[in-house]
Amino acid sequence: MNLVLAGATGLVGRKMMEILEERNFVIDNFYPVASERSVGKTVLFKGREHKIISMEEALTKSPQIAIFSAGGAASKLWAPKFAQMGCFVIDNSSAWRMEENVPLVVPEINGKSIGKNDYIIANPNCSTIQMVMALFPLHNKYKIKRVVVSTYQSVTGSGAKGINQLMAESKNESISEKAYPHPIHMNIIPHAGEFVEENYTTEEVKLVTETHKILDPSIAVTATVVRVPVDGGHSEAVNLEFENDFTIFEVTRLLGGMPGVVVFDMPEANMYPMPYLAKDKDEVFVGRIRRDLSQPNSLNLWIVSDNLRKGAATNAVQIAEYLVVNKFVIK
Ligand SMILES: NC(=O)c1ccc[n+]([C@@H]2O[C@H](COP(=O)([O-])OP(=O)(O)OC[C@H]3O[C@@H](n4cnc5c(N)ncnc54)[C@H](OP(=O)(O)O)[C@@H]3O)[C@@H](O)[C@H]2O)c1
Repeated sequence: MNLVLAGATGLVGRKMMEILEERNFVIDNFYPVASERSVGKTVLFKGREHKIISMEEALTKSPQIAIFSAGGAASKLWAPKFAQMGCFVIDNSSAWRMEENVPLVVPEINGKSIGKNDYIIANPNCSTIQMVMALFPLHNKYKIKRVVVSTYQSVTGSGAKGINQLMAESKNESISEKAYPHPIHMNIIPHAGEFVEENYTTEEVKLVTETHKILDPSIAVTATVVRVPVDGGHSEAVNLEFENDFTIFEVTRLLGGMPGVVVFDMPEANMYPMPYLAKDKDEVFVGRIRRDLSQPNSLNLWIVSDNLRKGAATNAVQIAEYLVVNKFVIK
């Protein structure tokens, strides 16, 4: 197995290496790729220093799998070149997610949507992954009519720049490259991505369109994405309206039965999901499960997950495992 990891020096790329190691993903030759400024430097993987190479050089290594977390522009340019060689590209950027012929995959939900000739496979946005993981079993049982989601997203979602800005501001230091147009330390920013139509942001639009593609286009979704000075994971306050009525007991049972979801909901003991508890874990944690008393068939949930793990790296590695287990990848 020759595996290329593009974006190996980034927050997601580094987490990807940790997870490939933890899960004992079998690799014969590992080729880390980053931007021109990092080519020639090394990264530590499985106890060995590996030299960072360019995209051009990685193409010559006959990889069977290339995991991309190098931003949308690099994915748009390079993913087709790897795919044309018969290499499976698992892409973390938003470049390919909404392309009709590209599966958008959360393995626990729609792993089976990957076909043998789908050489580009998209990893959904981090906030979408954790939300649809909780919505999937509930939609199957009660049919969701509408989702109202407000997110509280970690600075790690903005890559190395986000965490650097928070750390620098917390020490009153200045930095040259900022991730946000405002201070993030001791502040929250109701803006992630760019403003687009009707004054929504690209991050808000992703929650809508990706939920439609993964779960069901008939679900009405509205989103507000907020950046908070937190590093452990993204949190989401989600209000759901179903076609059919439910019991809290059955909702809790369905969520608890969903692989990768953990119900953590003991209000009497002040126990509920929080980013510092979710950090470095693969699971999606759901708590504050309660009926919305303002209208029929409605439910409130609080969903937290480590965006660098299930929201990015773990999900991508699970897709790679799926390709191997199902013999899509021929060594
Ligand atoms: N952070 C998250 O929670 C998250 C979640 C889901 C998806 N994603 C997506 O994953 C990608 C990476 O995010 P990140 O948070 O890891 O960002 P990051 O910390 O800024 O890292 C970016 C990585 O991409 C590399 N890179 C940039 N331009 C490149 C090019 N032209 N060719 C090759 N490599 C290039 C960088 O290399 P240098 O070090 O040499 O600059 C670095 O390794 C983005 O597309 C992001 O949208 C992130």
